[in-house]
Amino acid sequence: MENELQSLEAEARKGLQELTDAAHLEPFRVRFLGRKGAFSTIMRQLGSVPAEERPRVGQLANTIKADIERLFEEKKEMLSAGQGRRGVTTPDLSLPGRWPATGRLHPISQVMEETCQIFEGMGFSVAEGPDVELDYYNFEALNIPAHHPARDMHDTFYVSDSLLLRTHTSPMQARIMEARQPPLRVIAPGKVYRCDSDITHTPMFHQVEGFLVDKKVSFADLKGVLTVFTRKMFGKELALRFRPSFFPFTEPSAEVDIACVICGGQGCRVCKKTGWLEILGSGMIDPEVFRMVGYDPQQYSGFAFGLGVERIAMLKYGIDDIRLFYENDQRFLSQF
Ligand code: PHE
Repeated sequence: MENELQSLEAEARKGLQELTDAAHLEPFRVRFLGRKGAFSTIMRQLGSVPAEERPRVGQLANTIKADIERLFEEKKEMLSAGQGRRGVTTPDLSLPGRWPATGRLHPISQVMEETCQIFEGMGFSVAEGPDVELDYYNFEALNIPAHHPARDMHDTFYVSDSLLLRTHTSPMQARIMEARQPPLRVIAPGKVYRCDSDITHTPMFHQVEGFLVDKKVSFADLKGVLTVFTRKMFGKELALRFRPSFFPFTEPSAEVDIACVICGGQGCRVCKKTGWLEILGSGMIDPEVFRMVGYDPQQYSGFAFGLGVERIAMLKYGIDDIRLFYENDQRFLSQF
């Protein structure tokens, strides 16, 4: 009987090892530990064991059965924990891991960085200025006197009579020129604010201002620099057009449009059916602006431009609603 007990133990241990499915727990229990199971059957033979041997064999049988019962309970616990049925008591190391969410740069930041890199490649240096700006730099120093229509209360967020949220990055022209002497090649990226909101406007958006001041700077230099920029940014010879325009701080002035890449120039809601999208305002710096910062307009000339970062990002990635940038939808943002 001892031999039988030992081979039954070996069989039960092997069976437990191979038990990997909770569905097989009950058949195992019935086969080995149940009332009509293998252990009970053997125990019933205890009566035929010689009396002097009986206590030892009986104890052996009990020990083995208790061992198998304990191992069975452990196995049961493990399998049901792995299935999440009884709370997690033993972690299932075979489950796939979870990736921590990783952050990344917002598409606007990416386009802004890329824009700066392209101009840095052309010798421009980067400067940043305050979002809360003096009325003087935002308007006055840029040849926009009080009561000029561009100061319309509907466009500007005022903080006080002399303080406002800058409506463009152009105040950086005045700030830098006031503090430094030509030659200058500067770009100034940053946030700007206007009381405006629809599919192509948000109350806060981003601009990159650029300007170059030196002797004998011409409109051809402006065209050259902006053409290099659009080619580098869009990686191909995207159609570009300079459209005569007006800004109080540049003369002559031009707005630059690029072919609408959303509709291929056919006309859509983004380009308002024109096939073109305005990406920047530009021009030759007005002599009046030079006079206000103390430069001699006879000696120096220069150009300036201010480009809309959101517009460029929309065109680059084919996004047809500017508001998507500010809804913080991970499904949108994780694409960039
Ligand atoms: N500041 C102008 C705007 O926000 C753009 C501009 C910048 C125009 C520099 C000319 C020169 O619309």
